[in-house]
Amino acid sequence: MFESKSGVLLIAGLTFFGFAFLSNAVVPALMYADLPEKTAEELVNPQLRYQFEELGRRFPDAFVAAFGEPPTSGDVEGWWNARAAEALREGRDLYVGEGCWHCHSQFVRPVSNEEQRWGPVARSWEYQNELQRPVLFGTRRVGPDLSREAGRRGSDWHAVHLFDPTLTSTKSPMPAYPWMFDGSPDKPKREALALITYIQWLGSWLESYPLYESYTPAPIPREGLLEEHNGQ
Ligand code: HEC
Repeated sequence: MFESKSGVLLIAGLTFFGFAFLSNAVVPALMYADLPEKTAEELVNPQLRYQFEELGRRFPDAFVAAFGEPPTSGDVEGWWNARAAEALREGRDLYVGEGCWHCHSQFVRPVSNEEQRWGPVARSWEYQNELQRPVLFGTRRVGPDLSREAGRRGSDWHAVHLFDPTLTSTKSPMPAYPWMFDGSPDKPKREALALITYIQWLGSWLESYPLYESYTPAPIPREGLLEEHNGQ
């Protein structure tokens, strides 16, 4: 057997499979075995907070209907963080439920200069959290990779795109999600707000990300959330 060509190929094949399993599964698993898995609460970062608050300013009525009136005193910071974490979890569930992962990967691969198109190559620690259970690497890319999507587009763009992708991207094969809205893209329901929050989170954890560097979450101009909208 070992002298035959097919025998050599079989042994080589099994050996390479062994190496791949070792380097792609065993080594990363051991490297992060002691790293605790982050909860959604721990995943709320300043960039995400900025995007979440911005949803509140952009769609005040829809936001208050979905998440309640933001407090003006007491643990304001805690309230925003808790709602943002809630939205992240719900957004993730919608992403899974709607099969977004059938068409979008969340993994920038170290091949084909992918980092030039999407940003830094994905590292294993990025998946060490509750929202990546199960991991949403995805295998198909009918649409672009989304793991560096945070801040790439404004949330109003996402609202219009989710409402009807062909409004922003001619001939887009992406399905429309009008049921996430109360009739028009400027009236997002809780579902759309949660999903947009989740999209705006993807990649926001990268320190090298140049977006909103100077943003710190407090103090928040809470009064004015609705006034600003009503032009008062
Ligand atoms: C049938 C495949 C398909 C499904 C399912 C799908 N998409 Fe897409 N998506 C695409 C394609 C193709 C594009 C590129 C054209 C466009 O912008 O619509 C895209 C674009 C996007 C973009 C814009 C990326 C960028 O910055 O250019 C986002 C964000 C997005 N999709 C999110 C989602 C979410 C969230 C879901 C699930 C609710 C979803 N997609 C479901 C195919 C799909």
